[in-house]
Amino acid sequence: MSTATQQALIIPSPKAPFVIGPRPIPVPAKGQVRLKLLSVGLNPLNSVQHEFDVFISEYPAVIGADFAGVVDEVGEDVVGFSKGDEVFGQALNGGFQQYTTVPTAILIRKPKNITFDDAASFPATFPTACVGLFAQAPIGLALNPSFSWDRPQQGESALVIGGGTSTGQFAVQLLKFLGFTRIVVYASKVHFYYLKQLGATECIDRADVPLEKLVVKPPVKVVYDATFTGALDAAYDSVVDGGKVTTVRPEAKTERDPRSITLVHCFGFYVGPDVMEPIGDPAHWHASVEHTIFGKRIIEELPKMVEHGVIVPNRIEVLPNGLAGIPDALERMKAGGVRGVKVIAHPQESAP
Ligand SMILES: NC(=O)c1ccc[n+]([C@@H]2O[C@H](COP(=O)([O-])OP(=O)(O)OC[C@H]3O[C@@H](n4cnc5c(N)ncnc54)[C@H](OP(=O)(O)O)[C@@H]3O)[C@@H](O)[C@H]2O)c1
Repeated sequence: MSTATQQALIIPSPKAPFVIGPRPIPVPAKGQVRLKLLSVGLNPLNSVQHEFDVFISEYPAVIGADFAGVVDEVGEDVVGFSKGDEVFGQALNGGFQQYTTVPTAILIRKPKNITFDDAASFPATFPTACVGLFAQAPIGLALNPSFSWDRPQQGESALVIGGGTSTGQFAVQLLKFLGFTRIVVYASKVHFYYLKQLGATECIDRADVPLEKLVVKPPVKVVYDATFTGALDAAYDSVVDGGKVTTVRPEAKTERDPRSITLVHCFGFYVGPDVMEPIGDPAHWHASVEHTIFGKRIIEELPKMVEHGVIVPNRIEVLPNGLAGIPDALERMKAGGVRGVKVIAHPQESAP
Protein backbone atom coordinates (compact mmCIF):
# COMPACT_ATOMS: atom_id res chain seq x y z
CA MET A 1 0.00 0.00 0.00
CA SER A 2 1.37 3.44 -0.86
CA THR A 3 1.38 6.42 1.51
CA ALA A 4 -0.32 8.68 -1.04
CA THR A 5 -4.00 9.27 -0.35
CA GLN A 6 -7.14 9.85 -2.35
CA GLN A 7 -10.70 10.89 -1.51
CA ALA A 8 -13.36 8.21 -1.18
CA LEU A 9 -17.02 7.91 -0.24
CA ILE A 10 -16.68 5.70 2.83
CA ILE A 11 -19.15 3.60 4.86
CA PRO A 12 -17.25 3.64 8.18
CA SER A 13 -19.11 0.72 9.81
CA PRO A 14 -22.15 -1.43 8.96
CA LYS A 15 -25.14 0.74 7.97
CA ALA A 16 -23.42 3.98 9.13
CA PRO A 17 -23.95 7.12 7.03
CA PHE A 18 -21.55 7.75 4.14
CA VAL A 19 -18.64 10.13 4.78
CA ILE A 20 -16.10 11.58 2.38
CA GLY A 21 -12.58 10.95 3.63
CA PRO A 22 -9.04 9.96 2.75
CA ARG A 23 -7.96 6.43 1.80
CA PRO A 24 -4.59 5.16 0.64
CA ILE A 25 -4.18 4.97 -3.12
CA PRO A 26 -3.88 1.20 -3.69
CA VAL A 27 -0.93 -0.44 -5.44
CA PRO A 28 -1.89 -3.03 -8.08
CA ALA A 29 -1.05 -6.63 -7.18
CA LYS A 30 0.09 -9.26 -9.65
CA GLY A 31 -2.30 -9.42 -12.61
CA GLN A 32 -4.02 -6.18 -11.60
CA VAL A 33 -4.04 -2.61 -12.84
CA ARG A 34 -4.77 0.56 -10.94
CA LEU A 35 -7.42 2.75 -12.52
CA LYS A 36 -7.92 6.47 -12.25
CA LEU A 37 -11.73 6.51 -12.08
CA LEU A 38 -13.32 9.22 -14.21
CA SER A 39 -16.98 8.12 -14.15
CA VAL A 40 -18.89 5.79 -11.84
CA GLY A 41 -22.46 4.61 -12.33
CA LEU A 42 -25.05 4.25 -9.55
CA ASN A 43 -27.18 1.12 -9.20
CA PRO A 44 -30.14 0.09 -7.00
CA LEU A 45 -27.78 -2.50 -5.45
CA ASN A 46 -25.65 0.27 -3.89
CA SER A 47 -28.45 1.20 -1.47
CA VAL A 48 -29.18 -2.45 -0.71
CA GLN A 49 -25.51 -3.01 0.19
CA HIS A 50 -25.46 0.05 2.43
CA GLU A 51 -28.78 -0.53 4.19
CA PHE A 52 -28.58 -4.28 4.68
CA ASP A 53 -24.82 -4.72 5.01
CA VAL A 54 -24.60 -7.23 2.16
CA PHE A 55 -21.85 -7.80 -0.43
CA ILE A 56 -19.39 -5.92 1.79
CA SER A 57 -16.47 -7.88 3.18
CA GLU A 58 -14.82 -5.34 5.51
CA TYR A 59 -15.18 -1.85 6.99
CA PRO A 60 -14.47 0.96 6.42
CA ALA A 61 -16.02 0.07 3.05
CA VAL A 62 -16.12 1.70 -0.36
CA ILE A 63 -18.91 0.42 -2.61
CA GLY A 64 -19.63 1.35 -6.25
CA ALA A 65 -19.73 -1.25 -9.01
CA ASP A 66 -19.72 0.43 -12.41
CA PHE A 67 -16.59 2.30 -13.41
CA ALA A 68 -14.90 3.88 -16.39
CA GLY A 69 -11.42 5.34 -16.34
CA VAL A 70 -7.81 5.17 -17.38
CA VAL A 71 -5.13 2.62 -16.50
CA ASP A 72 -2.83 4.52 -14.19
CA GLU A 73 -0.42 1.82 -12.98
CA VAL A 74 0.25 -1.74 -14.08
CA GLY A 75 1.01 -4.65 -11.72
CA GLU A 76 3.42 -7.52 -12.22
CA ASP A 77 2.66 -10.02 -15.01
CA VAL A 78 0.04 -7.84 -16.65
CA VAL A 79 -0.18 -8.50 -20.38
CA GLY A 80 -2.19 -6.53 -22.91
CA PHE A 81 -2.87 -3.39 -20.86
CA SER A 82 -0.67 -0.39 -20.29
CA LYS A 83 -0.77 3.04 -18.72
CA GLY A 84 -3.23 5.35 -20.42
CA ASP A 85 -5.59 2.63 -21.73
CA GLU A 86 -9.24 3.70 -21.57
CA VAL A 87 -11.42 1.01 -20.02
CA PHE A 88 -14.62 0.29 -18.17
CA GLY A 89 -16.03 -2.59 -16.16
CA GLN A 90 -17.72 -3.93 -13.08
CA ALA A 91 -15.97 -4.63 -9.79
CA LEU A 92 -18.94 -4.68 -7.37
CA ASN A 93 -17.02 -2.56 -4.84
CA GLY A 94 -14.35 0.15 -4.96
CA GLY A 95 -15.95 2.48 -7.50
CA PHE A 96 -16.87 5.40 -5.24
CA GLN A 97 -13.31 6.69 -4.92
CA GLN A 98 -10.66 8.27 -7.12
CA TYR A 99 -8.49 5.17 -7.70
CA THR A 100 -9.11 1.43 -7.49
CA THR A 101 -7.29 -1.77 -8.40
CA VAL A 102 -8.91 -4.54 -10.43
CA PRO A 103 -7.87 -7.77 -12.16
CA THR A 104 -7.34 -7.24 -15.88
CA ALA A 105 -9.81 -10.07 -16.61
CA ILE A 106 -12.70 -7.67 -15.91
CA LEU A 107 -11.54 -4.83 -18.16
CA ILE A 108 -13.52 -3.86 -21.25
CA ARG A 109 -11.92 -1.45 -23.72
CA LYS A 110 -13.80 1.82 -24.07
CA PRO A 111 -14.77 2.46 -27.69
CA LYS A 112 -13.61 5.85 -28.99
CA ASN A 113 -17.12 6.88 -30.03
CA ILE A 114 -18.47 7.06 -26.47
CA THR A 115 -17.53 9.12 -23.41
CA PHE A 116 -16.40 7.75 -20.05
CA ASP A 117 -19.84 8.71 -18.68
CA ASP A 118 -21.49 6.66 -21.43
CA ALA A 119 -19.18 3.73 -20.73
CA ALA A 120 -20.06 3.74 -17.02
CA SER A 121 -23.71 3.07 -17.93
CA PHE A 122 -22.95 -0.48 -19.17
CA PRO A 123 -21.09 -2.58 -16.59
CA ALA A 124 -23.82 -4.06 -14.36
CA THR A 125 -26.94 -3.83 -16.45
CA PHE A 126 -25.72 -4.66 -19.96
CA PRO A 127 -24.37 -8.06 -18.81
CA THR A 128 -27.60 -8.65 -16.87
CA ALA A 129 -29.57 -8.30 -20.09
CA CYS A 130 -27.01 -10.03 -22.30
CA VAL A 131 -26.27 -13.05 -20.10
CA GLY A 132 -30.00 -13.61 -19.50
CA LEU A 133 -30.90 -13.52 -23.17
CA PHE A 134 -27.81 -14.80 -25.00
CA ALA A 135 -25.88 -17.22 -22.77
CA GLN A 136 -26.29 -20.98 -22.70
CA ALA A 137 -28.22 -22.62 -19.81
CA PRO A 138 -28.02 -22.59 -16.84
CA ILE A 139 -27.17 -18.86 -16.83
CA GLY A 140 -29.21 -17.70 -19.82
CA LEU A 141 -31.96 -18.50 -22.32
CA ALA A 142 -29.45 -19.51 -25.01
CA LEU A 143 -30.87 -17.22 -27.69
CA ASN A 144 -27.39 -16.46 -29.06
CA PRO A 145 -24.58 -18.22 -27.15
CA SER A 146 -22.14 -17.83 -30.04
CA PHE A 147 -22.86 -14.08 -30.26
CA SER A 148 -23.88 -14.28 -33.91
CA TRP A 149 -24.52 -10.99 -35.73
CA ASP A 150 -26.81 -12.79 -38.23
CA ARG A 151 -30.14 -12.14 -36.47
CA PRO A 152 -30.62 -15.71 -35.23
CA GLN A 153 -34.12 -14.98 -33.85
CA GLN A 154 -35.41 -13.21 -36.96
CA GLY A 155 -39.20 -12.74 -36.89
CA GLU A 156 -39.74 -13.78 -33.25
CA SER A 157 -41.67 -11.90 -30.53
CA ALA A 158 -40.70 -10.79 -27.02
CA LEU A 159 -41.91 -8.80 -24.01
CA VAL A 160 -39.70 -6.68 -21.74
CA ILE A 161 -41.34 -6.00 -18.37
CA GLY A 162 -39.70 -2.89 -16.92
CA GLY A 163 -38.58 -1.46 -20.25
CA GLY A 164 -37.74 1.87 -18.59
CA THR A 165 -34.97 0.37 -16.45
CA SER A 166 -31.36 0.51 -17.51
CA THR A 167 -31.41 -3.29 -17.84
CA GLY A 168 -34.67 -3.21 -19.79
CA GLN A 169 -33.29 -0.67 -22.26
CA PHE A 170 -30.36 -2.99 -23.00
CA ALA A 171 -32.72 -5.98 -23.28
CA VAL A 172 -34.78 -4.13 -25.92
CA GLN A 173 -31.64 -3.33 -27.94
CA LEU A 174 -30.36 -6.91 -27.69
CA LEU A 175 -33.71 -8.31 -28.82
CA LYS A 176 -33.59 -6.03 -31.85
CA PHE A 177 -30.00 -7.17 -32.53
CA LEU A 178 -31.24 -10.78 -32.40
CA GLY A 179 -33.80 -10.05 -35.11
CA PHE A 180 -36.98 -10.02 -33.00
CA THR A 181 -39.59 -8.17 -35.01
CA ARG A 182 -42.23 -7.80 -32.29
CA ILE A 183 -40.82 -6.26 -29.12
CA VAL A 184 -43.45 -5.31 -26.55
CA VAL A 185 -42.42 -3.17 -23.58
CA TYR A 186 -44.22 -2.61 -20.29
CA ALA A 187 -43.11 0.77 -18.95
CA SER A 188 -44.30 4.26 -18.09
CA LYS A 189 -45.51 6.37 -20.98
CA VAL A 190 -42.68 8.85 -20.46
CA HIS A 191 -40.27 6.19 -21.80
CA PHE A 192 -42.24 5.18 -24.91
CA TYR A 193 -40.64 7.51 -27.45
CA TYR A 194 -37.12 6.51 -26.43
CA LEU A 195 -37.91 2.80 -26.18
CA LYS A 196 -39.31 2.87 -29.72
CA GLN A 197 -36.06 4.44 -30.89
CA LEU A 198 -34.23 1.52 -29.27
CA GLY A 199 -36.39 -1.09 -31.00
CA ALA A 200 -39.69 -1.46 -29.14
CA THR A 201 -42.63 -2.04 -31.47
CA GLU A 202 -45.51 -1.98 -28.93
CA CYS A 203 -45.73 -0.17 -25.59
CA ILE A 204 -48.03 -0.90 -22.65
CA ASP A 205 -48.38 1.92 -20.12
CA ARG A 206 -47.95 0.68 -16.59
CA ALA A 207 -50.22 3.46 -15.37
CA ASP A 208 -53.06 1.90 -17.40
CA VAL A 209 -52.38 -1.79 -16.67
CA PRO A 210 -51.23 -2.86 -13.19
CA LEU A 211 -48.55 -5.54 -13.22
CA GLU A 212 -51.00 -8.07 -11.69
CA LYS A 213 -53.26 -7.64 -14.73
CA LEU A 214 -50.58 -7.66 -17.42
CA VAL A 215 -51.28 -10.23 -20.15
CA VAL A 216 -49.82 -9.76 -23.61
CA LYS A 217 -51.83 -11.09 -26.55
CA PRO A 218 -50.96 -12.83 -28.74
CA PRO A 219 -48.41 -14.37 -26.38
CA VAL A 220 -44.72 -13.95 -27.07
CA LYS A 221 -41.85 -16.41 -27.37
CA VAL A 222 -39.55 -14.70 -24.85
CA VAL A 223 -40.08 -12.56 -21.74
CA TYR A 224 -37.36 -10.50 -20.08
CA ASP A 225 -38.46 -9.36 -16.59
CA ALA A 226 -36.34 -6.40 -15.40
CA THR A 227 -38.48 -5.44 -12.40
CA PHE A 228 -37.32 -5.23 -8.81
CA THR A 229 -40.39 -7.08 -7.56
CA GLY A 230 -40.22 -9.85 -10.12
CA ALA A 231 -43.14 -10.26 -12.50
CA LEU A 232 -43.30 -13.98 -13.22
CA ASP A 233 -47.10 -14.26 -13.11
CA ALA A 234 -47.37 -11.66 -15.86
CA ALA A 235 -44.50 -13.30 -17.72
CA TYR A 236 -46.12 -16.75 -17.64
CA ASP A 237 -49.50 -15.26 -18.65
CA SER A 238 -47.85 -13.62 -21.68
CA VAL A 239 -45.57 -16.35 -23.02
CA VAL A 240 -46.39 -19.19 -25.42
CA ASP A 241 -46.20 -22.86 -24.42
CA GLY A 242 -42.58 -23.81 -24.86
CA GLY A 243 -41.53 -20.18 -24.48
CA LYS A 244 -38.65 -18.73 -22.48
CA VAL A 245 -38.62 -16.40 -19.46
CA THR A 246 -35.79 -14.75 -17.59
CA THR A 247 -35.97 -12.49 -14.54
CA VAL A 248 -33.49 -10.25 -12.72
CA ARG A 249 -35.13 -10.94 -9.37
CA PRO A 250 -33.26 -13.83 -7.67
CA GLU A 251 -36.21 -14.77 -5.44
CA ALA A 252 -38.89 -14.46 -8.15
CA LYS A 253 -41.42 -17.32 -8.08
CA THR A 254 -44.77 -18.12 -9.63
CA GLU A 255 -47.57 -20.55 -8.87
CA ARG A 256 -48.61 -20.54 -12.53
CA ASP A 257 -48.64 -23.84 -14.43
CA PRO A 258 -45.03 -24.28 -15.56
CA ARG A 259 -46.19 -25.87 -18.85
CA SER A 260 -43.01 -26.34 -20.87
CA ILE A 261 -41.65 -22.88 -20.16
CA THR A 262 -37.91 -22.42 -19.65
CA LEU A 263 -37.20 -20.15 -16.67
CA VAL A 264 -33.80 -18.65 -15.87
CA HIS A 265 -32.94 -16.31 -13.01
CA CYS A 266 -30.28 -14.16 -14.64
CA PHE A 267 -27.31 -12.41 -13.04
CA GLY A 268 -25.24 -9.60 -14.44
CA PHE A 269 -21.82 -11.10 -13.88
CA TYR A 270 -19.28 -11.44 -16.65
CA VAL A 271 -16.65 -13.09 -14.46
CA GLY A 272 -17.03 -15.91 -11.97
CA PRO A 273 -15.26 -17.05 -8.79
CA ASP A 274 -12.26 -18.17 -10.88
CA VAL A 275 -11.55 -14.43 -11.41
CA MET A 276 -13.08 -12.71 -8.35
CA GLU A 277 -13.70 -14.22 -4.93
CA PRO A 278 -17.30 -13.95 -3.69
CA ILE A 279 -17.84 -10.84 -1.55
CA GLY A 280 -20.07 -11.30 1.49
CA ASP A 281 -22.26 -14.40 1.90
CA PRO A 282 -21.27 -16.91 -0.83
CA ALA A 283 -24.88 -18.21 -0.79
CA HIS A 284 -25.95 -14.86 -2.30
CA TRP A 285 -23.14 -14.81 -4.84
CA HIS A 286 -24.48 -16.23 -8.06
CA ALA A 287 -21.44 -15.79 -10.31
CA SER A 288 -20.23 -19.06 -11.83
CA VAL A 289 -17.45 -20.19 -14.13
CA GLU A 290 -20.05 -20.09 -16.92
CA HIS A 291 -20.17 -16.32 -16.39
CA THR A 292 -16.44 -16.09 -17.01
CA ILE A 293 -16.71 -18.19 -20.17
CA PHE A 294 -19.60 -16.20 -21.63
CA GLY A 295 -18.19 -12.96 -20.18
CA LYS A 296 -15.19 -13.22 -22.50
CA ARG A 297 -17.63 -12.81 -25.39
CA ILE A 298 -19.13 -9.71 -23.74
CA ILE A 299 -15.66 -8.22 -23.22
CA GLU A 300 -14.88 -8.84 -26.90
CA GLU A 301 -18.21 -8.04 -28.52
CA LEU A 302 -19.64 -5.12 -26.53
CA PRO A 303 -17.05 -2.58 -27.77
CA LYS A 304 -17.72 -3.71 -31.38
CA MET A 305 -21.49 -3.41 -30.92
CA VAL A 306 -21.05 0.10 -29.54
CA GLU A 307 -18.65 1.13 -32.31
CA HIS A 308 -21.16 -0.07 -34.91
CA GLY A 309 -24.01 1.72 -33.13
CA VAL A 310 -26.09 -1.44 -32.67
CA ILE A 311 -26.00 -0.92 -28.90
CA VAL A 312 -26.13 2.57 -27.41
CA PRO A 313 -25.36 3.54 -23.81
CA ASN A 314 -28.12 4.61 -21.45
CA ARG A 315 -28.90 8.29 -21.37
CA ILE A 316 -27.10 9.75 -18.42
CA GLU A 317 -27.49 12.29 -15.64
CA VAL A 318 -24.20 13.58 -14.24
CA LEU A 319 -24.24 14.49 -10.55
CA PRO A 320 -22.77 17.74 -9.28
CA ASN A 321 -20.18 17.68 -6.46
CA GLY A 322 -18.32 14.49 -7.38
CA LEU A 323 -18.56 11.72 -4.78
CA ALA A 324 -20.45 13.99 -2.38
CA GLY A 325 -23.44 13.95 -4.72
CA ILE A 326 -23.89 10.17 -4.47
CA PRO A 327 -25.75 9.70 -1.12
CA ASP A 328 -28.62 12.05 -2.06
CA ALA A 329 -28.82 10.51 -5.53
CA LEU A 330 -29.12 7.01 -4.02
CA GLU A 331 -31.97 8.26 -1.82
CA ARG A 332 -33.65 9.76 -4.89
CA MET A 333 -33.27 6.46 -6.77
CA LYS A 334 -34.90 4.59 -3.89
CA ALA A 335 -37.81 7.03 -3.91
CA GLY A 336 -38.38 6.41 -7.64
CA GLY A 337 -36.98 9.79 -8.64
CA VAL A 338 -34.55 8.45 -11.24
CA ARG A 339 -36.37 7.42 -14.38
CA GLY A 340 -34.91 6.09 -17.58
CA VAL A 341 -31.39 7.47 -17.06
CA LYS A 342 -28.17 6.15 -15.54
CA VAL A 343 -26.85 8.42 -12.79
CA ILE A 344 -23.10 9.07 -13.02
CA ALA A 345 -20.63 10.69 -10.61
CA HIS A 346 -17.15 12.02 -11.35
CA PRO A 347 -14.81 10.87 -8.54
CA GLN A 348 -11.96 13.16 -9.61
CA GLU A 349 -14.10 16.20 -8.76
CA SER A 350 -13.60 15.19 -5.12
CA ALA A 351 -9.81 15.47 -5.37
CA PRO A 352 -8.43 17.42 -2.38
N1 LIG B 1 -29.88 -10.09 -11.21
C1 LIG B 1 -28.89 -9.23 -11.33
O1 LIG B 1 -27.71 -9.60 -11.41
C2 LIG B 1 -29.20 -7.77 -11.45
C3 LIG B 1 -28.25 -6.90 -11.99
C4 LIG B 1 -28.60 -5.55 -12.14
C5 LIG B 1 -29.85 -5.11 -11.72
N2 LIG B 1 -30.70 -6.00 -11.14
C6 LIG B 1 -32.02 -5.58 -10.69
O2 LIG B 1 -32.74 -5.26 -11.86
C7 LIG B 1 -33.69 -4.24 -11.58
C8 LIG B 1 -33.48 -3.14 -12.57
O3 LIG B 1 -32.23 -2.54 -12.32
P1 LIG B 1 -31.79 -1.27 -13.15
O4 LIG B 1 -30.52 -0.78 -12.58
O5 LIG B 1 -31.88 -1.59 -14.57
O6 LIG B 1 -33.00 -0.31 -12.72
P2 LIG B 1 -33.16 1.26 -12.87
O7 LIG B 1 -32.57 1.72 -14.14
O8 LIG B 1 -32.76 1.90 -11.61
O9 LIG B 1 -34.75 1.27 -12.99
C9 LIG B 1 -35.53 2.38 -12.66
C10 LIG B 1 -36.84 2.20 -13.39
O10 LIG B 1 -37.54 1.07 -12.89
C11 LIG B 1 -38.85 1.19 -13.39
N3 LIG B 1 -39.77 0.33 -12.67
C12 LIG B 1 -39.83 0.16 -11.34
N4 LIG B 1 -40.83 -0.72 -11.05
C13 LIG B 1 -41.41 -1.08 -12.22
C14 LIG B 1 -42.50 -1.93 -12.58
N5 LIG B 1 -43.22 -2.59 -11.65
N6 LIG B 1 -42.81 -2.08 -13.87
C15 LIG B 1 -42.10 -1.42 -14.82
N7 LIG B 1 -41.07 -0.58 -14.56
C16 LIG B 1 -40.73 -0.43 -13.26
C17 LIG B 1 -39.15 2.67 -13.18
O11 LIG B 1 -39.91 3.00 -14.29
P3 LIG B 1 -40.88 4.27 -14.29
O12 LIG B 1 -40.05 5.36 -14.85
O13 LIG B 1 -41.93 3.78 -15.16
O14 LIG B 1 -41.32 4.54 -12.89
C18 LIG B 1 -37.77 3.35 -13.21
O15 LIG B 1 -37.61 4.21 -14.33
C19 LIG B 1 -33.43 -3.82 -10.13
O16 LIG B 1 -34.32 -4.54 -9.33
C20 LIG B 1 -32.02 -4.33 -9.86
O17 LIG B 1 -31.81 -4.60 -8.50
C21 LIG B 1 -30.42 -7.31 -11.01
